[in-house]
Amino acid sequence: MIGKPDVQITNYMIRYYGKLAGYGKAVPEKVITNDELAARIDTSDEWITERTGIKERHVVSEGEHCSDLATNAARKAMEKAGITADELDLIIVASSSPDYLMPPVSSQVQHNLGAKNAGAFVMVVGCTGFVYALATADQFIRSGQYRNIVVVGVEVISRNVDWDDRNTCVLFGDGAAAVVLQRTESETGMISHHLGSDGSGFEHIIQVAGGTRNPVTHESLDQGLQYLKMNGREVFKFASGMMGQALKIVLDEAGYTPEDIDLFIPHQANARIIEFAAKQAGLPAEKVFVNVNKYGNTSAASVPIAITEAFEEGRLKEGDLLALVAFGSGLTWGSCLVRV
Ligand code: UT7
Repeated sequence: MIGKPDVQITNYMIRYYGKLAGYGKAVPEKVITNDELAARIDTSDEWITERTGIKERHVVSEGEHCSDLATNAARKAMEKAGITADELDLIIVASSSPDYLMPPVSSQVQHNLGAKNAGAFVMVVGCTGFVYALATADQFIRSGQYRNIVVVGVEVISRNVDWDDRNTCVLFGDGAAAVVLQRTESETGMISHHLGSDGSGFEHIIQVAGGTRNPVTHESLDQGLQYLKMNGREVFKFASGMMGQALKIVLDEAGYTPEDIDLFIPHQANARIIEFAAKQAGLPAEKVFVNVNKYGNTSAASVPIAITEAFEEGRLKEGDLLALVAFGSGLTWGSCLVRV
């Protein structure tokens, strides 16, 4: 009998940790301001700013695609980590707006990078995708199987929203960012994580046509069913309650309190939801990272873009305790605590 592995095996078992060794973002140059939107549809800078905190968003130009943004972000993260494409073991791309439904955009990224030794797959978990992908990557590192994994969050939502629908088009933006998770024996990286899903809310954020249930037809296109639709009020209620709860779960699991957190990076969907979550957790504003004003909601890219900017702005440094919480379509949510 093997029995009590922790006691018997620990002496000669090597423990591996996933260090956040590199980061980088790739955001399209083109910017659309609230005023530009207000010139086209029935909205205003005042409404968007008050209700969401968003001032502008970046969107792709013609010829710019999800795989391009993802590749650029991955390259930057790899450069920062000091690794070559040959050294990559795995590429995980979190995205709900890939170039094609098939093939997986992760293989396009793998090809673009020339990462011939890497496996690659996509995680489709809406705005929560990056947190799911990071937790997954961490398992491959901890098992000792892989040394270097690049985790990308990328979206080109501008091509999936109806630019005449003020309920959605003012909220979203495009972008990508990536991190490299690198195997180390030093105690660092992910301390705890929590992943959740409640499919009873599947209709609250949905693209009805384009999947196998409702393939694209002339009729579905006429009805605009290929566009992203959202029940904003329901998602708002869900997110406001869930963010604080998901944060508490990972803190409790790790034996930490909100005071221990150096920086809280929530999914950047709405400044009001972020404020509510921070208040619920008792976190002062200086410990909360917010950049939704510049990018809008970039879905799976929002958390890694924020991680990258937090490092670039000196708000995150080695040794800090970082808390991440995201939520999105599914409905889904995820949180984790990371020692960076
Ligand atoms: O990443 C996960 C995805 N999504 C989210 O996190 C979104 C969560 N939800 C939200 O952020 C908010 O619910 C919204 C920002 C989407 C909406 O804010 P709200 O305070 O919940 O507004 P509402 O939906 O209750 O709408 C209030 C009014 C409505 O008019 P009536 O029915 O009261 O006459 C809307 O038609 O505001 C109207 N409205 C707008 N007005 C000007 C909706 N969108 C706009 C707009 N400009 N862009």
